[in-house]
Amino acid sequence: MPGIVIVGAQWGDEGKGKATDLLGSRTDYVVKFNGGNNAGHTVVVGDEKYALHLLPSGILTEGVTPVIGNGVVIDLEVLFDELEALSARGVDVSKLRISANAHVITDYHRTLDKVTERFLGKRSIGTTGRGIGPTYADKINRVGIRIQDLFDESILRQKIEGALDVKNHMLTKVYNRRAVTCDEIFDDLTSYVERIRPMVGDTGLELSRALDAGQTVVFEAGQATMLDIDHGTYPFVTSSTATSAGAALGSGVAPSRLDRVIGIVKAYTTRVGAGPFPTELFDEWGELLRKQGFEFGTTTGRPRRCGWNDTIITRYASRINGLTDIVLTKLDVLTGIEQIPVCVAYEVDGERFDEMPVSQSDFHHAKPIYENLPGWSEDITGARELSDLPANAQAYVRFLEERSGSRISAIGVGADREAIVQVHDLID
Ligand code: GDP
Ligand code: IMO
Ligand code: MG
Repeated sequence: MPGIVIVGAQWGDEGKGKATDLLGSRTDYVVKFNGGNNAGHTVVVGDEKYALHLLPSGILTEGVTPVIGNGVVIDLEVLFDELEALSARGVDVSKLRISANAHVITDYHRTLDKVTERFLGKRSIGTTGRGIGPTYADKINRVGIRIQDLFDESILRQKIEGALDVKNHMLTKVYNRRAVTCDEIFDDLTSYVERIRPMVGDTGLELSRALDAGQTVVFEAGQATMLDIDHGTYPFVTSSTATSAGAALGSGVAPSRLDRVIGIVKAYTTRVGAGPFPTELFDEWGELLRKQGFEFGTTTGRPRRCGWNDTIITRYASRINGLTDIVLTKLDVLTGIEQIPVCVAYEVDGERFDEMPVSQSDFHHAKPIYENLPGWSEDITGARELSDLPANAQAYVRFLEERSGSRISAIGVGADREAIVQVHDLID
């Protein structure tokens, strides 16, 4: 019975939230397994638009149990703000489950994120400033604070003091900031204890039992393959495992329980923050994609960098994640473009690359080699079957499918929940 993983195949914002929501009504659990409130998922349901950051997108579907897995880093203030905002709009948030092993983002993590970025100057990553990197760094350094620590005041104090030992030296002596006291952090974190207590448990066990009982679990990634700490464009990446392997790591379910891996691919490409992006457009075409696709960050409001679709990246994402299906999103945004370039290879100093160059410097210097595909001008937002799409749009989809090496099972033709062409069933 299905354990279904949803991952971003590019640099994020491919439409993972909408894809998760699409599976919602046939799903029992939706687990967020990595990242934190650096993510931003917009889901449109009728006239209502929801922007989710920390909570899994499945929370919008009645009957689904949303889970925040052990691989997530949690900002408690954001958690309760988001829960309250959804409750106020009539969404039932009472079923939320949170792993006792998830790590907590504190005030000093947010401060360190911002000051390290400032110190990096020209080499900055362009992080979301939410404290994600420093919190994962503490986890790996074994000085992090976990959700379960909130329930033991003496342990919590010890852990905060241990973490502040070095942090306060860094904050005051390196970054010229004020020192943080154990009491301020302790008071802040413990102010949430009674509210969070009923939500916390062994979510790995709960999810494994659900799979044993034949229920459907969707594992929803934040960020994307090219932002993955191991497989992305390091160091211009996030600090977690955003690829399919992270679904097991970050939820406490064995890798053998994952049956399907769905990669979300935008019909073109976008990126937020710094780092290489071979098909990036600096001309009026980039402006057009940004305007037609409304490419502004859900989290930070930053304009997204835009470029043509890059099939080298999709093929790489297919391999790294073991994609069984692709959901192609935002095909409607390309309507009206006469000739649509698609990147099929790179050229680096006169040499052709048909796969991702292993050297980061080569990738930085990669020039896209394009094939131009004929566009279409008909409005496709009402299409619900492949045959409803104009022949050129079908040919564009087929071309991406052939190059990516995974079948395209659904195609987004608009932001709304219903605006989708179903090609193959995503749950069976
Ligand atoms: P995520 O981070 O991967 O969940 O993606 P975001 O929500 O950050 O960005 C995707 C944006 O595209 C959102 O504003 C969605 O409402 C919108 N969207 C998703 N699918 C489609 C589609 O097929 N067509 C159009 N026009 N918009 C879409
Ligand atoms: P969703 O889930 C796009 C980018 C940031 C920055 C880098 C590191 O909506 O697809 P971080 O704050 O994580 O340390 O920043 O990663 N980034 C995203 N870009 N979509 C996201 O999430 C992102 N989450 C982080 O812009 O370049
Ligand atoms: Mg997003």
